[in-house]
Amino acid sequence: MSILELLQYAKKSFADADVENPQKNAEILLSYLLNCSSGEIYLKENPLIDSNRLDSLIQRRINNEPWAYIFNSVQFRNLELNIKKGVFIPRPETEILAEETIRKVKSQQSKVKSILELGTGCGNIALSLAKTFPSVLVTTADISKTALKIAKINARRYNLKNIRFLYSDLYKNIPRQKFDIVVSNPPYVPVSSLKTLAPEVRKEPRLALNGGKKGVFILQKIIKSTASFLKKEGYLFLEIGICQDDLLKKIIAQSKLKLIKIVKDYQGIPRVTILRKKQKVESNK
Ligand SMILES: C[S@@+](CC[C@H](N)C(=O)[O-])C[C@H]1O[C@@H](n2cnc3c(N)ncnc32)[C@H](O)[C@@H]1O
Repeated sequence: MSILELLQYAKKSFADADVENPQKNAEILLSYLLNCSSGEIYLKENPLIDSNRLDSLIQRRINNEPWAYIFNSVQFRNLELNIKKGVFIPRPETEILAEETIRKVKSQQSKVKSILELGTGCGNIALSLAKTFPSVLVTTADISKTALKIAKINARRYNLKNIRFLYSDLYKNIPRQKFDIVVSNPPYVPVSSLKTLAPEVRKEPRLALNGGKKGVFILQKIIKSTASFLKKEGYLFLEIGICQDDLLKKIIAQSKLKLIKIVKDYQGIPRVTILRKKQKVESNK
């Protein structure tokens, strides 16, 4: 088949199965199979493509498997990361969480020595920090062994030695030490919304999404426990879900942390909360 026939074939298969945006999906698939950009596929007139492989990939996509799982690859900032089913796929808005954390570390002019991340996933945040700051020790923990395995593969891929992985339910196995910064993008989807998520998102691990009744169950636990793991001037960076900012402000007001700033994402949704450990006089107020 010519490239145009292949595109047409893939597009029709997706359209017949009611996959959204069949043209775009066909282009993504062919650019993957031909190892080129979507624009370049049109330059490959009569490419050799194994039709069984093509059909099997089309079928996986029709079954709502995310492209990241099909390709075993995902992009986060400047990193190309391994990913597989069972591990949360990093989202573009989480780059804001990583960037805000990086900005803070830079502004502290090498005073930051240790960072803790809770909820490693494929390692996207921890690796971004460890790669940007080779002199900082990044500790990162997850309750999913599958996630930790993939994150370790990614750390080896970038030859990062300043990163330590721990199997832990939040702070349970974290050594009693004080960190300069704690960062987390925890599960924050309200349990009642899990059923209504896009079919593609429902292919991702529930453990990475489920934030309990109001979505803030884990966020609340982190806010309550973090102060005792932070140095005196330490910061907590958290990604939060849609419309959770007001509820979280109330939770923060009762904690040993002080809200510094809430950063909006690309859609104007309050997304990243920046908190600082209260000083003793502030806690006593
Ligand atoms: C939304 S994903 C974030 C993954 C990645 N850090 C990112 O930003 O893309 C949340 C992660 O937290 C992990 N997780 C869920 N509950 C946890 C717990 N109680 N303790 C530690 N990690 C947990 C999940 O396994 C998942 O990898």
